[in-house]
Amino acid sequence: MKLGTYTFDRPALYLAPMDDVTDAPFRDICHRMGADVTVSEFIASDALIREIEVIRRKLISGPDEHPFGIQIFGNNAESLCAAARLAEECQPDFIDINWGCPAKKIAGKNAGSGMLQYPDQLVEITRQVVKSVSLPVTVKTRIGYNDASKIIVELAKRLQEAGIRAIAIHGRTKSQMYKGEADWSLINAVKNDPEIEIPVIGNGDITSAETAMQRLADCPLDGIMVGRGAIGNPWIFARCRALLEGKPLPPEPDLAERARICEAHLRSAAALKGERTGMLEMRKHYKPYFKGLLNIKEQKIKMLTSDDIQEVLDILQEMQQTTPEK
Ligand SMILES: Cc1cc2nc3c(=O)[nH]c(=O)nc-3n(C[C@H](O)[C@H](O)[C@H](O)COP(=O)(O)O)c2cc1C
Repeated sequence: MKLGTYTFDRPALYLAPMDDVTDAPFRDICHRMGADVTVSEFIASDALIREIEVIRRKLISGPDEHPFGIQIFGNNAESLCAAARLAEECQPDFIDINWGCPAKKIAGKNAGSGMLQYPDQLVEITRQVVKSVSLPVTVKTRIGYNDASKIIVELAKRLQEAGIRAIAIHGRTKSQMYKGEADWSLINAVKNDPEIEIPVIGNGDITSAETAMQRLADCPLDGIMVGRGAIGNPWIFARCRALLEGKPLPPEPDLAERARICEAHLRSAAALKGERTGMLEMRKHYKPYFKGLLNIKEQKIKMLTSDDIQEVLDILQEMQQTTPEK
């Protein structure tokens, strides 16, 4: 698997871009746990061009975070090309175009997966973005717009011809949103097509290292992308990596380990965004970090409601001293 100047001698582990989740602090944690490739949260090309302040934060990446891609979305070549050039100035390793988001406010305007209804336009815009930057351009998309138009195999060939350097495919249609199960047979059909030479990365419903390994046993994909399965569970990358490298599976994290990583995450969010914003934005992570652990209901409620970062840090540090029954 080759991505720009980076080469992997085994399938690459991608952290899926997730808006409001995969910010720089969370990506850093996943990267340290073993994620090979990270991508920014999606960035609206128009907002990037207008230099909207909150967007700047999304462009920041860690010094060791490589390969790192900046993901942009939009519905026309002019703004996507301009945004790609601006993103390039931040020196990521690649630019990723989002042709997969199904959210109404995006797909409804024919950006994201909305453009899957117009494959000619999608390919042409992508071709222009490829031409407008010197960095590699990749695409993240879905298998089609709806059940009647699962066009991914043909689309992948056309995108390859347009010059993209890798394709990540979420095995659902736009109409499916996040319902049902991801259909990996079409992801595999792209990889197995003799005309496809670019790396193919599979995405959808990877919730454990074992599922990832099963997907790779089914088809020699170039990469596996993990999204929701990494929320509250960045250890999934350490476990995937161990299995890929033929090493023993690390143990599932206990309470102390979860609290240790959660504390590091909170500190890094506060350093990047300021204490208050960092603390408020961390709230969505507490439940996932401590999911399934009993006897910590009170601490969870305090963490979710406290306005005092020191109080939250104290709770997390206390958890690291004691390991109550699971
Ligand atoms: C909260 C959330 C935010 C997301 N934001 C993005 C995004 O910014 N860009 C993108 O390409 N996909 C986004 N996705 C889709 C994921 O990258 C991924 O394709 C999808 O969740 C399926 O993978 P999973 O089953 O491993 O979660 C998002 C998904 C979730 C749940």
